[in-house]
Amino acid sequence: RHLKLLMISLVVLLLAVAPAFAKKPVVIKFSHVVAVDTPKGQAAEFFKKLVEERSKGDIIVEVYPNSSLFNDNDVMTPLMTNAVQMAAPSFSKFTKFAPQLQLVDLPFLFDDADHLHRVLEGNVGQQLKDAVGKKALVGLSFWDSGFKQFSANKPILVPEDAAGLKFRIMSSKVLEEQFKVVGANPQVLPFSEVYSALQQGVVDAAENPLSNFYTKKFHEVQTDLTLSNHGYLGYLVVTNKMFWKSLDDQQRELITQAMKEATVYGNKLALDMDITYLEKVKESGKTAVHELTPAQRKLWKAKMVAIYPEFYDTIGKDLIDGAIAEGK
Ligand code: LMR
Repeated sequence: RHLKLLMISLVVLLLAVAPAFAKKPVVIKFSHVVAVDTPKGQAAEFFKKLVEERSKGDIIVEVYPNSSLFNDNDVMTPLMTNAVQMAAPSFSKFTKFAPQLQLVDLPFLFDDADHLHRVLEGNVGQQLKDAVGKKALVGLSFWDSGFKQFSANKPILVPEDAAGLKFRIMSSKVLEEQFKVVGANPQVLPFSEVYSALQQGVVDAAENPLSNFYTKKFHEVQTDLTLSNHGYLGYLVVTNKMFWKSLDDQQRELITQAMKEATVYGNKLALDMDITYLEKVKESGKTAVHELTPAQRKLWKAKMVAIYPEFYDTIGKDLIDGAIAEGK
């Protein structure tokens, strides 16, 4: 009888302590601000799928799109304190922490996406990753969105058309100067507030890649879009050192590989979506789409590249020259 009691007590004890020994999954909270149906939104979902399948559920990725957890301007602190484990802010949003990343904001710096990729995959890109590595962050991968286009409630064809307009910008000194040099008034706003700011006339104009323009319905509140391709929007996917060091080698390897594949996947989508979302904007019938003539584009470029020397100190002349050299 005693033996039976002892056995029962043992089983009860085992059942009680078992959950404490079960391995808890690693959770990656991935915060971003754009719609799911964008290059970044889709790359994040693909990354989640790969990581969860390959880790057999040992690593869970919770993706929070549409600024549902944090907007980009606010995500840096929780990211650094490990309340969030991953984010993919645009380069501009690192301005306070690593001003060198404003390199990518420089207008008319890249001839095309290939030129940009050569820069980011080479020595210059490595220096940008190292710059965030000096903070509590680890730069994992560069993701594309696409070239930005001007929008307003009137056609913007020559620099004079922008004069006096309030342009929403991301928090970047380069973007501020880019608009000041054509006589416009730049206004910093988080992405989540752009639609209502345009709708209520808090700002008159904006610059966005087509996927962000369409998926956030900016075509409902802007009558004109110019295919200006004047600057690039892309992202640096980051994690924090505290989280990165808490993983074992195998987990880091798995995440690194999934990130590589998600990058290829997302960057391909970025090219495709530029085409499909332009069609959708046109089909909506709400926004007139304008192309620039080569002569008009030249006017914009001449005005805007004049700001580069102002950033030789904060970005580094070597980085700017290095990026230009990759285009030749
Ligand atoms: C913006 O604020 O316009 C962009 O950074 C949004 C994004 O992440 O694509």
